[in-house]
Amino acid sequence: MKARFITLDGIDGAGKSTNLAVIQAWFEARKLPVVFTREPGGTPTGEALREILLNPETRVSLRTETLLMFAARQQHLEDVILPALQNGVNVVSDRFTDATFAYQGGGRNVPLRDIEVLENWVQGGLRPDLTFLLDVPLEVSMARIEKSREKDRFEQEQADFFTRVRRVYLDRAAANPQRYAVIDSNRDKEQVRQDIKNTLNRHFGF
Ligand code: TMP
Repeated sequence: MKARFITLDGIDGAGKSTNLAVIQAWFEARKLPVVFTREPGGTPTGEALREILLNPETRVSLRTETLLMFAARQQHLEDVILPALQNGVNVVSDRFTDATFAYQGGGRNVPLRDIEVLENWVQGGLRPDLTFLLDVPLEVSMARIEKSREKDRFEQEQADFFTRVRRVYLDRAAANPQRYAVIDSNRDKEQVRQDIKNTLNRHFGF
């Protein structure tokens, strides 16, 4: 069976952690080889860049922020994602390039065309086989962020920023329904869990 590259994305507070656990349990039950990883991060260099990127004290320009996301991604691809896929191991990444389009493109207004150029340079033709887009209304996301004890540099942004982030995610999903599974995560946990499991079953042909 061909190894799949699966990503999970969405605005902050959309319930990624809970649903990553659902995906993890699904892979365990099926006994399929898989690595779980995240962005920005996934390698020692990527995690160091993550520290810089999420630290509220960091002052960076829009281009620097975008380039650091892709710098972390380049290392992540070379050291983790591509070797796994080449060895027949599925990869599940907690965020990937959709987040750059949504946060740097939507949130910060970096031209989407510039992000596309970097995407092609860093990834060549590689795109996720399946992307779970967890979606919640803005008020839900903001309420969940408010509850977090220490807000990172992105979580400190205001509602209009997250409105733009969410818009880009939803636009990308609408433009490519084959790849994206948009999950309304503002529902009963069990319903969301079933949706994710059904999507994985369908995708893998079970
Ligand atoms: P998280 O791991 O809690 O989701 O935090 C990662 C943060 O980084 C989140 O607010 C989204 C942001 N981010 C970007 O702005 N661009 C990117 O390309 C990635 C991968 C994440």
